[in-house]
Amino acid sequence: MGKKCKCTLLKEAKARLDKSGLGDLLETRTFENYQVSGEYQKFIKKTAMEYLESFLNGDNYSFSILGQSGVGKTHITTAISKKLLDMGVGVKYYIADEIIQNLQACKFDEENYNNEFNKIVRADVLFIDDLFKSSLTNYYNEEGIKKEDLREIFKVINYRYNKKLPILLNSEIHFERFTNIDQAIIGRINEMCNYKYLISIKPDSSKNYRLSKKSV
Ligand SMILES: Nc1ncnc2c1ncn2[C@@H]1O[C@H](COP(=O)(O)OP(=O)(O)OP(=O)(O)O)[C@@H](O)[C@H]1O
Ligand SMILES: [Mg+2]
Repeated sequence: MGKKCKCTLLKEAKARLDKSGLGDLLETRTFENYQVSGEYQKFIKKTAMEYLESFLNGDNYSFSILGQSGVGKTHITTAISKKLLDMGVGVKYYIADEIIQNLQACKFDEENYNNEFNKIVRADVLFIDDLFKSSLTNYYNEEGIKKEDLREIFKVINYRYNKKLPILLNSEIHFERFTNIDQAIIGRINEMCNYKYLISIKPDSSKNYRLSKKSV
Protein backbone atom coordinates (compact mmCIF):
# COMPACT_ATOMS: atom_id res chain seq x y z
CA MET A 1 0.00 0.00 0.00
CA GLY A 2 1.30 3.49 -0.88
CA LYS A 3 2.32 5.96 1.79
CA LYS A 4 -0.37 8.45 2.77
CA CYS A 5 0.35 12.10 2.00
CA LYS A 6 0.67 14.63 4.82
CA CYS A 7 -2.68 16.30 4.09
CA THR A 8 -4.54 12.96 4.24
CA LEU A 9 -2.88 12.18 7.56
CA LEU A 10 -3.85 15.60 8.88
CA LYS A 11 -7.42 15.16 7.66
CA GLU A 12 -7.63 11.78 9.36
CA ALA A 13 -6.20 13.23 12.58
CA LYS A 14 -8.79 16.04 12.51
CA ALA A 15 -11.61 13.54 11.90
CA ARG A 16 -10.41 11.47 14.88
CA LEU A 17 -10.41 14.53 17.12
CA ASP A 18 -13.92 15.50 15.95
CA LYS A 19 -15.22 11.97 16.42
CA SER A 20 -13.75 11.58 19.90
CA GLY A 21 -16.59 13.54 21.53
CA LEU A 22 -14.12 15.45 23.72
CA GLY A 23 -14.47 18.75 21.87
CA ASP A 24 -12.74 21.80 23.37
CA LEU A 25 -11.55 19.87 26.43
CA LEU A 26 -8.71 18.51 24.31
CA GLU A 27 -7.15 21.95 24.09
CA THR A 28 -7.31 22.87 27.76
CA ARG A 29 -6.99 19.59 29.66
CA THR A 30 -3.43 18.88 28.63
CA PHE A 31 -0.32 17.48 30.35
CA GLU A 32 1.30 20.89 29.92
CA ASN A 33 -1.55 22.58 31.86
CA TYR A 34 -1.62 19.94 34.58
CA GLN A 35 -0.07 21.37 37.76
CA VAL A 36 1.78 19.13 40.18
CA SER A 37 1.96 20.98 43.46
CA GLY A 38 0.78 18.05 45.62
CA GLU A 39 2.27 14.56 45.96
CA TYR A 40 -0.95 12.98 44.72
CA GLN A 41 -0.80 15.10 41.56
CA LYS A 42 2.80 14.02 40.95
CA PHE A 43 1.69 10.42 41.32
CA ILE A 44 -1.26 10.90 38.95
CA LYS A 45 0.91 12.52 36.27
CA LYS A 46 3.70 9.94 36.61
CA THR A 47 1.25 7.04 36.35
CA ALA A 48 -0.46 8.64 33.33
CA MET A 49 2.89 9.08 31.55
CA GLU A 50 3.90 5.48 32.35
CA TYR A 51 0.56 4.33 31.01
CA LEU A 52 1.16 6.15 27.73
CA GLU A 53 4.63 4.68 27.47
CA SER A 54 3.25 1.17 27.92
CA PHE A 55 0.63 1.89 25.25
CA LEU A 56 3.39 3.02 22.88
CA ASN A 57 5.19 -0.25 23.58
CA GLY A 58 2.17 -2.15 22.32
CA ASP A 59 0.41 -3.02 25.61
CA ASN A 60 -3.36 -2.65 25.66
CA TYR A 61 -3.97 -1.95 29.33
CA SER A 62 -6.63 0.37 30.66
CA PHE A 63 -6.31 3.47 32.83
CA SER A 64 -8.66 4.42 35.62
CA ILE A 65 -8.78 7.20 38.15
CA LEU A 66 -11.20 7.11 41.06
CA GLY A 67 -11.73 9.96 43.47
CA GLN A 68 -13.78 12.91 44.55
CA SER A 69 -15.08 15.72 42.38
CA GLY A 70 -12.48 18.25 41.22
CA VAL A 71 -9.45 16.03 41.82
CA GLY A 72 -8.49 16.21 38.14
CA LYS A 73 -9.87 12.93 36.78
CA THR A 74 -11.31 14.26 33.52
CA HIS A 75 -8.31 16.56 33.04
CA ILE A 76 -5.63 13.85 33.18
CA THR A 77 -7.67 11.31 31.22
CA THR A 78 -8.37 13.88 28.50
CA ALA A 79 -4.63 14.63 28.37
CA ILE A 80 -4.01 10.90 27.83
CA SER A 81 -6.74 10.83 25.15
CA LYS A 82 -5.11 13.69 23.23
CA LYS A 83 -1.77 11.88 23.17
CA LEU A 84 -3.49 8.69 21.98
CA LEU A 85 -5.43 10.55 19.29
CA ASP A 86 -2.18 12.15 18.12
CA MET A 87 -0.69 8.65 17.85
CA GLY A 88 -3.56 7.70 15.52
CA VAL A 89 -5.59 5.77 18.10
CA GLY A 90 -9.37 6.30 17.99
CA VAL A 91 -10.71 7.41 21.38
CA LYS A 92 -14.45 7.65 21.99
CA TYR A 93 -15.71 9.68 24.93
CA TYR A 94 -18.94 8.91 26.77
CA ILE A 95 -20.38 10.16 30.00
CA ALA A 96 -21.37 6.89 31.71
CA ASP A 97 -25.00 7.98 32.14
CA GLU A 98 -25.23 8.48 28.38
CA ILE A 99 -24.22 4.85 27.84
CA ILE A 100 -26.81 3.66 30.34
CA GLN A 101 -29.57 5.85 28.89
CA ASN A 102 -28.78 5.00 25.27
CA LEU A 103 -28.85 1.27 26.00
CA GLN A 104 -31.94 1.35 28.18
CA ALA A 105 -33.84 3.41 25.61
CA CYS A 106 -33.79 0.45 23.24
CA LYS A 107 -33.78 -2.47 25.64
CA PHE A 108 -37.03 -3.93 24.21
CA ASP A 109 -35.78 -3.86 20.63
CA GLU A 110 -33.03 -6.43 20.26
CA GLU A 111 -31.74 -5.27 16.89
CA ASN A 112 -31.59 -1.64 17.93
CA TYR A 113 -30.01 -2.57 21.25
CA ASN A 114 -27.29 -4.58 19.55
CA ASN A 115 -26.59 -1.74 17.11
CA GLU A 116 -26.32 0.76 19.94
CA PHE A 117 -24.19 -1.60 22.04
CA ASN A 118 -21.78 -2.19 19.16
CA LYS A 119 -21.56 1.52 18.45
CA ILE A 120 -20.45 2.10 22.04
CA VAL A 121 -18.09 -0.80 22.61
CA ARG A 122 -16.20 -0.85 19.33
CA ALA A 123 -13.89 2.12 19.79
CA ASP A 124 -10.11 1.57 19.85
CA VAL A 125 -10.14 3.16 23.30
CA LEU A 126 -13.38 3.75 25.17
CA PHE A 127 -13.33 6.69 27.58
CA ILE A 128 -16.09 6.39 30.21
CA ASP A 129 -16.36 9.49 32.37
CA ASP A 130 -18.29 10.00 35.62
CA LEU A 131 -19.34 6.44 36.28
CA PHE A 132 -22.45 6.35 38.53
CA LYS A 133 -22.20 10.10 39.11
CA SER A 134 -25.93 10.74 39.05
CA SER A 135 -26.47 8.07 41.72
CA LEU A 136 -24.27 9.92 44.18
CA THR A 137 -26.18 12.60 46.03
CA ASN A 138 -23.44 13.36 48.50
CA TYR A 139 -19.89 12.06 48.77
CA TYR A 140 -20.39 10.52 52.20
CA ASN A 141 -23.89 9.17 51.61
CA GLU A 142 -24.76 5.65 50.60
CA GLU A 143 -25.35 5.46 46.88
CA GLY A 144 -28.48 4.18 45.31
CA ILE A 145 -27.14 2.66 42.11
CA LYS A 146 -29.84 0.82 40.23
CA LYS A 147 -29.30 -2.86 39.43
CA GLU A 148 -30.14 -2.31 35.76
CA ASP A 149 -27.53 0.47 35.53
CA LEU A 150 -24.91 -1.87 36.98
CA ARG A 151 -25.97 -4.52 34.49
CA GLU A 152 -25.54 -2.24 31.44
CA ILE A 153 -22.13 -1.05 32.61
CA PHE A 154 -21.06 -4.60 33.41
CA LYS A 155 -21.95 -5.69 29.85
CA VAL A 156 -19.86 -2.90 28.34
CA ILE A 157 -16.86 -3.47 30.65
CA ASN A 158 -17.07 -7.23 30.22
CA TYR A 159 -17.08 -6.93 26.41
CA ARG A 160 -13.92 -4.81 26.56
CA TYR A 161 -12.39 -7.18 29.15
CA ASN A 162 -13.03 -10.32 27.09
CA LYS A 163 -11.63 -8.75 23.94
CA LYS A 164 -8.67 -7.17 25.76
CA LEU A 165 -9.65 -3.70 24.60
CA PRO A 166 -8.59 -0.68 26.66
CA ILE A 167 -10.85 1.69 28.54
CA LEU A 168 -10.19 4.95 30.30
CA LEU A 169 -12.54 5.11 33.25
CA ASN A 170 -13.30 7.78 35.84
CA SER A 171 -15.55 7.69 38.84
CA GLU A 172 -16.09 9.57 42.05
CA ILE A 173 -16.36 6.23 43.81
CA HIS A 174 -12.98 5.31 45.26
CA PHE A 175 -11.65 1.75 45.14
CA GLU A 176 -12.64 0.44 48.60
CA ARG A 177 -16.11 1.83 48.23
CA PHE A 178 -16.43 0.37 44.75
CA THR A 179 -15.59 -3.09 46.06
CA ASN A 180 -18.68 -2.84 48.28
CA ILE A 181 -20.85 -1.93 45.28
CA ASP A 182 -19.78 -4.38 42.57
CA GLN A 183 -16.68 -6.53 42.77
CA ALA A 184 -17.19 -8.02 39.31
CA ILE A 185 -16.91 -4.58 37.68
CA ILE A 186 -14.09 -3.11 39.78
CA GLY A 187 -12.15 -6.39 39.75
CA ARG A 188 -12.20 -6.47 35.95
CA ILE A 189 -11.18 -2.83 35.76
CA ASN A 190 -8.27 -3.43 38.15
CA GLU A 191 -7.06 -6.37 36.07
CA MET A 192 -7.45 -4.42 32.81
CA CYS A 193 -5.29 -1.70 34.40
CA ASN A 194 -2.67 -4.37 35.11
CA TYR A 195 -3.07 -3.56 38.85
CA LYS A 196 -0.87 -0.57 38.14
CA TYR A 197 -2.76 2.01 36.12
CA LEU A 198 -5.73 2.26 38.47
CA ILE A 199 -5.41 5.24 40.80
CA SER A 200 -7.71 5.71 43.76
CA ILE A 201 -7.45 9.06 45.53
CA LYS A 202 -8.28 9.18 49.22
CA PRO A 203 -11.09 11.63 50.06
CA ASP A 204 -9.76 15.05 51.14
CA SER A 205 -11.60 18.30 50.39
CA SER A 206 -8.28 20.16 49.86
CA LYS A 207 -7.83 18.05 46.72
CA ASN A 208 -10.78 19.66 44.95
CA TYR A 209 -9.00 21.86 42.40
CA ARG A 210 -12.18 23.80 41.72
CA LEU A 211 -12.25 24.96 45.36
CA SER A 212 -8.60 25.99 45.55
CA LYS A 213 -7.87 29.70 45.95
CA LYS A 214 -4.97 31.94 46.67
CA SER A 215 -4.91 33.39 50.19
CA VAL A 216 -3.74 36.97 50.59
N1 LIG B 1 -3.50 19.35 38.61
C1 LIG B 1 -4.25 20.24 37.93
N2 LIG B 1 -3.67 21.23 37.23
C2 LIG B 1 -4.39 22.13 36.54
N3 LIG B 1 -5.74 22.14 36.50
C3 LIG B 1 -6.38 21.17 37.18
C4 LIG B 1 -5.68 20.17 37.93
N4 LIG B 1 -6.59 19.35 38.51
C5 LIG B 1 -7.79 19.81 38.13
N5 LIG B 1 -7.68 20.91 37.35
C6 LIG B 1 -8.76 21.71 36.78
O1 LIG B 1 -9.80 21.73 37.74
C7 LIG B 1 -11.06 21.53 37.10
C8 LIG B 1 -11.65 20.23 37.61
O2 LIG B 1 -10.88 19.14 37.17
P1 LIG B 1 -11.55 17.85 36.50
O3 LIG B 1 -12.71 18.27 35.66
O4 LIG B 1 -10.50 17.04 35.87
O5 LIG B 1 -12.09 17.16 37.84
P2 LIG B 1 -12.85 15.78 38.03
O6 LIG B 1 -12.05 14.99 39.02
O7 LIG B 1 -13.10 15.18 36.70
O8 LIG B 1 -14.19 16.26 38.73
P3 LIG B 1 -15.71 15.73 38.56
O9 LIG B 1 -15.80 14.43 39.33
O10 LIG B 1 -16.54 16.80 39.20
O11 LIG B 1 -15.98 15.54 37.10
C9 LIG B 1 -10.79 21.55 35.61
O12 LIG B 1 -10.92 22.87 35.14
C10 LIG B 1 -9.33 21.10 35.52
O13 LIG B 1 -8.69 21.56 34.35
MG1 LIG C 1 -14.81 14.85 35.60
